Amino acid sequence: MCGIVGYIGPGDAKSIVISGLKRLEYRGYDSSGIAFIDDDSIIIKKKSGKVSSLDSVVKKDKIEGLCIGHTRWATHGLPNDLNAHPHFSMNKNLAVIHNGVIENYLTIKEGLVNRGYKFVSETDTEVLINLIQDVQTNEKTGLFKSIQLALSQVVGAYSIAVIDKKNSEKIVVAKKGSPLIIGVGNNENFIASDPAPFLNYTKNVIYLKDNEIAEVSASEIKIKNIKNKSKRPYIEKLNIELEAIEKGNYETFMLKEIYEQPKAIVETLRGRISSDFKRTRLRGLNENIDFLKNVKKIIIIACGTSWHAGLVGEYLIEGIARIPVEVEYASEFLYRDPLISTNDMVIAISQSGETADTLSALKLAKQRGAFVYGICNVVGSSIARSAGVGTYTHAGPEIGVASTKSFTSQVTVLILIALYLNTLKERNSSIKITELTKELVQISDKMSRTIDDINDKIIKISELYKDAKNFLYLGRGISFPVALEGALKLKEISYIHAEGYPAAEMKHGPIALIDKNMPTVIIATNKSNYEKVLINAEEIKARSGKLIAIVNKNDKQMSKIADHVIEIAETNNFLSPLITTLPLQLLSYHIAKMRGCNVDQPRNLAKSVTVE
Ligand code: F6R
Repeated sequence: MCGIVGYIGPGDAKSIVISGLKRLEYRGYDSSGIAFIDDDSIIIKKKSGKVSSLDSVVKKDKIEGLCIGHTRWATHGLPNDLNAHPHFSMNKNLAVIHNGVIENYLTIKEGLVNRGYKFVSETDTEVLINLIQDVQTNEKTGLFKSIQLALSQVVGAYSIAVIDKKNSEKIVVAKKGSPLIIGVGNNENFIASDPAPFLNYTKNVIYLKDNEIAEVSASEIKIKNIKNKSKRPYIEKLNIELEAIEKGNYETFMLKEIYEQPKAIVETLRGRISSDFKRTRLRGLNENIDFLKNVKKIIIIACGTSWHAGLVGEYLIEGIARIPVEVEYASEFLYRDPLISTNDMVIAISQSGETADTLSALKLAKQRGAFVYGICNVVGSSIARSAGVGTYTHAGPEIGVASTKSFTSQVTVLILIALYLNTLKERNSSIKITELTKELVQISDKMSRTIDDINDKIIKISELYKDAKNFLYLGRGISFPVALEGALKLKEISYIHAEGYPAAEMKHGPIALIDKNMPTVIIATNKSNYEKVLINAEEIKARSGKLIAIVNKNDKQMSKIADHVIEIAETNNFLSPLITTLPLQLLSYHIAKMRGCNVDQPRNLAKSVTVE
């Protein structure tokens, strides 16, 4: 979604901000713009489309001292030049960039219109900057105080950066519910909505907290909260290398991230399993051991791919730890007055840690007294902070919009949680915990081998089906959520319609779609339901459907039925999603590439969905 970048200092402000905006392109956006001060005036340049279009508009500008830039993902108003950020205040003394949504913008706008304000865009952002101007004019306050007063009237989520033509020595930033990070340099400072834009300049960062406002100059950072209480800036060191956010030798981020999965899993497991494979160590759980011994129910809340990981978690936690689990879309959980008790654990899963629906659902669960636990990839993200307790996946930055390594690392954390909860009370003594844990430690090798073994075959299969109009994905048991994830991956990056279904459920409806033009991907790797899946496969072939089967190495029977088989390394049923998901990711990847789609930035999608 929207991205914020800013720079203040003696360096080349234009190229720092423009290259920073390019580093934010992965978040998904439809327009971009910058603002700077020249000859006591604020200059704004903005353009719909890619940052490269903006590049050409600012080619001749020399920008010194200070510059702010923005990538916009439209919420209020069309994605055009007018609605792109930055936005001027009506008197053109101020300019703002803004991530998030001002929920009461219409009420505020009405008041401003009555006081003679005119608006050139349809955005909530222009309302905010005019509110700040209004406060400044009426209260005769400086920029910082005016922002403080204006924000106290605002309902919603925001991170903003404001510049004032009368003071080219500072940028004022503020945050509530949407991330804002200050990169602390040597006599220069940076601001951004995530650290990617300034990672090659500094790794020292300050995560602004909700309701905090900071005045950032080249040499100083002053922070106060909305009630004017001073806060001591807390500088942290980022643990991310630049290469983690670059493509390296890969054609796309998505392919890099698919191939990175075995390494990501190793990072997820690091330090979390005892050397005798008997215990898992998760600090967030250890610290709450008494509660967990008596936990009655676990509710998992998430969106999209993270929700699919949650569904896998249901099979894992119920199967391994025998604790009832419910999995809900965060957005639905939020608005149905859910029944939550103080004996319940609510797990919020989110790669970005910024998904607005998940964040709000988590806050609701907290209000109602549940024990709330976060599984996030982005360190210091809003969900991680709001949960207070949880586990980071440590998959490394995920830049491709389509989640790949975050899914497998989330599943890995859920396996660890299930193992932990089992050993806490031996809730299911029929599970051989040590064996399962040993297999988990070795799974990354199996994942690597599988990716290497199957890629060429999947390229050939993709050639055959790249023009299909629809795809069906089927799985049973723990492979059902993997089928859902496979279908989501295909539709989001190749724009082919795809549906995931429990294999047995096919005959209750989707079977009507099967004909010679309809490819079905079926996951047939789990011994406990293999025979049943074979029957479902026969049902498809009996109707001339095309069948692509994901099977274990040396499979005998499915090979006789399916048009194509993709052989993967065999593993324990509980761990199988870590491997079965790999061919599905590669299939969607190659099909999308062959169709000429931009796999890293699929149309209309955003990496971190910060609006409800
Ligand atoms: C799919 C995808 C989205 C996200 C969803 C939740 O590939 O990326 O469906 O999974 O928007 O995002 P997070 O995990 O950041 O909360």
